[in-house]
Amino acid sequence: MVKGRNEELIDTEHLRSFARRGRALDIVQQTRYQLGMQQWGLKPVSERLSEILIVGQAEKVTLEIGFGDGANLLAMARAYPDRLFLGVEVYISGILKVLRGIEEQQLSNLYLYDGDAWDLLSTLPDACLDQCYVLFPDPWPKRRHHKRRLLQVKFLRLLRARCTSEAKLVVATDWQEYAEFISKELSTSGCWRCAQCLELTDRCEQDSCTRLLVTKFESKGLAQQRTIYQFNCTACELADTPTIHDQLSNNN
Ligand SMILES: C[S@@+](CC[C@H](N)C(=O)[O-])C[C@H]1O[C@@H](n2cnc3c(N)ncnc32)[C@H](O)[C@@H]1O
Repeated sequence: MVKGRNEELIDTEHLRSFARRGRALDIVQQTRYQLGMQQWGLKPVSERLSEILIVGQAEKVTLEIGFGDGANLLAMARAYPDRLFLGVEVYISGILKVLRGIEEQQLSNLYLYDGDAWDLLSTLPDACLDQCYVLFPDPWPKRRHHKRRLLQVKFLRLLRARCTSEAKLVVATDWQEYAEFISKELSTSGCWRCAQCLELTDRCEQDSCTRLLVTKFESKGLAQQRTIYQFNCTACELADTPTIHDQLSNNN
């Protein structure tokens, strides 16, 4: 795994892309949460990643950002046991659901970060991910809230730095105006190429979209007759961003 990090891409000033972290847990949930996260939690990130990668020898690593109730994350981890899955979410009930799923389905290839995706990406080493999913991120529809949207150039560039040069990114939304916004941000970022942009309106077409299931927020969108926009992207060179090798040779 590449050890260097593009530190200049870390933005500590960003606005939160989520409104709440979830409700208080009762004592049983707290215990389940603490025990679960001791085993499947990703904090502290670098120590945990070193242990996980050594034990699993994983080269294929998928990250799902904002996994919600975790149905897609659990389905992927079950379907691809040779792949390592990381999930990041701030919604505590979602984390608990996935912890329960890991236990019930006896999965051993899925780890969770409870917190902001910005914080996880700021801590991950470069080039450690080869797949990333961002499914139905909060659209923040009011114009004055657009700055809270997760998928903006800075975030896309930080994500790209943490991905390999062959990495794939899948983004989906049921909000047309956010889809247009995402398309512009992807193109402005200069580091993700949209290889395919799908517009899906029912479950049949869904089968061609390379995802295993319809997520909770996707089914809400479909129930309201919304079109699903899915961007299947591939990584491009991180232009204008010094690589760790550039930085080292500049220091010499
Ligand atoms: C609209 S929901 C979609 C959930 C799920 N992907 C689905 O399709 O059903 C967006 C999710 O992203 C999470 N989220 C938003 N911003 C986040 C961030 N910065 N880091 C981690 N999770 C975030 C929210 O807590 C929420 O669960």
